[in-house]
Amino acid sequence: HRHLLGIEGLSPLDIAALLDRADEAVEISRQIEKKRATLRGRTQINLFFEPSTRTQSSFELAGKRLGADVMNMSVASSSVKKGETLIDTAATLNAMRPDIIVVRHHQAGAVHLLARKVDCAVVNAGDGAHEHPTQALLDALTIRRNKGRIEGLVVAICGDVLHSRVARSNIILLQALGARVRVIGPSTLLPPGIERFGVEVFTDMRAGLKHADIVMMLRLQRERMNGSFVPSVKEYFRYFGLDGDKLREARPDALVMHPGPMNRGVEISSEVADGAQSLIREQVEMGVAVRMAVLEALATHLPNA
Ligand code: CP
Repeated sequence: HRHLLGIEGLSPLDIAALLDRADEAVEISRQIEKKRATLRGRTQINLFFEPSTRTQSSFELAGKRLGADVMNMSVASSSVKKGETLIDTAATLNAMRPDIIVVRHHQAGAVHLLARKVDCAVVNAGDGAHEHPTQALLDALTIRRNKGRIEGLVVAICGDVLHSRVARSNIILLQALGARVRVIGPSTLLPPGIERFGVEVFTDMRAGLKHADIVMMLRLQRERMNGSFVPSVKEYFRYFGLDGDKLREARPDALVMHPGPMNRGVEISSEVADGAQSLIREQVEMGVAVRMAVLEALATHLPNA
């Protein structure tokens, strides 16, 4: 593959190969000298039109650990603010001869469009409510390392599924690897017709959590709601927030995940987020490894590789 635009289009073998490569990257990242030279001489541009803590910093570290020159484009202080379009911005950056552009954009499909306009490899770091492929890969890596497998696990994805690119990429990936995926949320935050994806749908959280191996919480994405979400935060937490009491509905060895950023007391309690069953910090570590794996895999398809 020349780009990574989504999990859609990857085969189970592609996914497994990336996860195997990411396991190696974890080992590199745990050494004192955390470097490999696979991307030496290559230029990587991170172009983020939406805020990010985890994705942008881990793509930067991943590129640097592989020896690339990494440039973080500061969109907030760029000519985007003067009205330059996405395509003109992409064409401008393309003229500087990058090898890889990592893009996050608020519109679904924007990254696909950009990929058609540039000569380099493009990685989707999140496009609107569409896909966030490296998040799903890092979640799968975290699950595989803790449970030893993905096939046959019951994974409950809970909360604001409607606005979540993380949920979408995870549903595609986890099902491709044989997990049984459930989605849980208020009906107003579940995409109409979500059953078509082959997931089990629950609007009662306790029922949906029963016998779950993995409980994956999602952030309530109020910035994508245009004020249309009515219930109070307190009410939302009461019915759909994960606390210790609701978590007891899942298997005793269930593990809890959250892609971040977390809203404590909205979709998850601090007791659970910081508790013994939480994998949230480990997900962040796996994020760097997965992004190293993706950058390395794309590098093998770069011209003159
Ligand atoms: N999970 C995730 O994408 O986090 P950021 O928005 O901080 O990158």
